[in-house]
Amino acid sequence: MNIILIGFMGSGKTAVGKELAAKLKMDFLDTDELIEKTEGRSITSIFQEYGEPYFRKLETETLKTLQDYDNYVLSTGGGIVLKEENAARLKELGKVIWLWAEPEVIHERIKHETHRPLLKVADPQAEIKNILLVRLPFYKNAADHKIDTTERPPHQVAMEIIEWLKLK
Ligand code: S3P
Repeated sequence: MNIILIGFMGSGKTAVGKELAAKLKMDFLDTDELIEKTEGRSITSIFQEYGEPYFRKLETETLKTLQDYDNYVLSTGGGIVLKEENAARLKELGKVIWLWAEPEVIHERIKHETHRPLLKVADPQAEIKNILLVRLPFYKNAADHKIDTTERPPHQVAMEIIEWLKLK
């Protein structure tokens, strides 16, 4: 069984995923990191050189390579669910958990970071709200379960996920 974390940039997928993997003695994998390793360049550089559609293609190709993975906590890029094909693949891979955070909190968490090409705009806060609104139905469609991370540190979110898994 795998656990897959989806959700917007800054929702805590990496931090929660690492906690979860350590607590459950599972391996941790991040699709963005895998893409960077395979391509030998950063996500920012991929966006700059080849554009978003090319990155989305890489995302789908990367996901296809994971079909035999087991006992992984998988943290995914925030836009991976935009393709139905990807959402279906994630469901086949394991339990899909959507980490949610209020847009204001997301902005607070990411405002000093520079590695997210989609948020390098004049008004990142407005952009977060806009993109989030468009993506809500995609996250909802892809998820087996949703957890609000707004007021919770990663270790607490990880514990909640473990509790939820026990109930399954
Ligand atoms: C993206 C989120 C990023 C990364 C890329 C695009 C998105 O991952 O995949 O910059 O479309 O939301 P994180 O969600 O890990 O920041």
